[in-house]
Amino acid sequence: MNKHNAIRNQTWECDLRSDTFTSPDEGMREAMATAVVGDDVYGEDPTVNLLEKRLASLLGKEDGAFFPSGTQSNLSAVMAHCGRGEEIIVGKNYHVYWDEASGASVLAGISLWPVETEIDGSISPVSVEGAIKVDDPHHASSRLLCLENTVGGKAVSLDKMKDVSKTARKNNLSIHLDGARFFNAVTALNCKPEELANCADSVSVCLSKGLGTPLGTVLVGSSKFIRKARRNRKILGGSMRQVGIVAAAGHYALDNNISRLVEDHNRAKFFANELREMNIGHVDSGTNMVFFTPKDGHADNLRLHLEKYGVKIGDQNPSIRMVLHRDVSDEGLDKAIAGFKSFYQ
Ligand SMILES: Cc1ncc(COP(=O)(O)O)c(C=O)c1O
Repeated sequence: MNKHNAIRNQTWECDLRSDTFTSPDEGMREAMATAVVGDDVYGEDPTVNLLEKRLASLLGKEDGAFFPSGTQSNLSAVMAHCGRGEEIIVGKNYHVYWDEASGASVLAGISLWPVETEIDGSISPVSVEGAIKVDDPHHASSRLLCLENTVGGKAVSLDKMKDVSKTARKNNLSIHLDGARFFNAVTALNCKPEELANCADSVSVCLSKGLGTPLGTVLVGSSKFIRKARRNRKILGGSMRQVGIVAAAGHYALDNNISRLVEDHNRAKFFANELREMNIGHVDSGTNMVFFTPKDGHADNLRLHLEKYGVKIGDQNPSIRMVLHRDVSDEGLDKAIAGFKSFYQ
């Protein structure tokens, strides 16, 4: 816990609710405080421009655009890919379908066609083909496949990503990848960022999850696509001014926090094994996430008990998501394990 957090919140020594609870450390704050800035609406913030170019180049795309949030980046992307009356094929548990308040439909007249996903979070090529609508005036026009990786902590394999994109491309669909945790996927798959990004035409990469910035997402794709996405960002009110102050946190995160994601993955594995050994319910894990479904089916008392240890877990039911991240210390994790042990003893 850094000193700024200590002032704000002395309660949760170990906050496992999400990697969005990471807060900037001293090094990141220093980078932000000393950032060179300009007016990004005029395209004159050098720190933003460099971050956009840097991520585009890392992912093998022509250009990038900086957004305040992953939700706005995804929405601007799907609006750039689809027109009114067109349709997105998307996993029914994916963020774009389930957690973004149907923004594509509400604001852009785009329909969302949810499909089942496999146990590993992937969408099968068969599901995509089954969801594509024939060209008939009665139907919306299938236009975009929206993928996600990681999905609920699971890194979908490169082979599966390639297979499903091949099917989409064969059927003239564009592909958007919601890579809110793109670098967790790349770390787990042990591949180059470009290899994963090649499976999609556009990729949205959040810096504010395990990478630890206070906000910010970069969308990458072709220059033509990014021009459209920038226009959509303007429509959605997401164009910002001296936002290099935030982009500097992004540079710091790329320099310092990608290589340490593997630590979160290892600690998630360790934590999952500890819980399994207690034989107290079903445990699943992948990348930086652990899911626990208590045998007795409810967890309200467990939550209250863990709070006494300074440990905070989410309020999902029946399966609780717990996320490892850079602001969870080894001591914090020990407390979580001790809290589980004492509760179930
Ligand atoms: C998979 C996924 N996509 C997109 C987002 C949206 O990001 P934001 O909260 O920055 O809007 C999230 C947020 O947690 C996410 O988990």
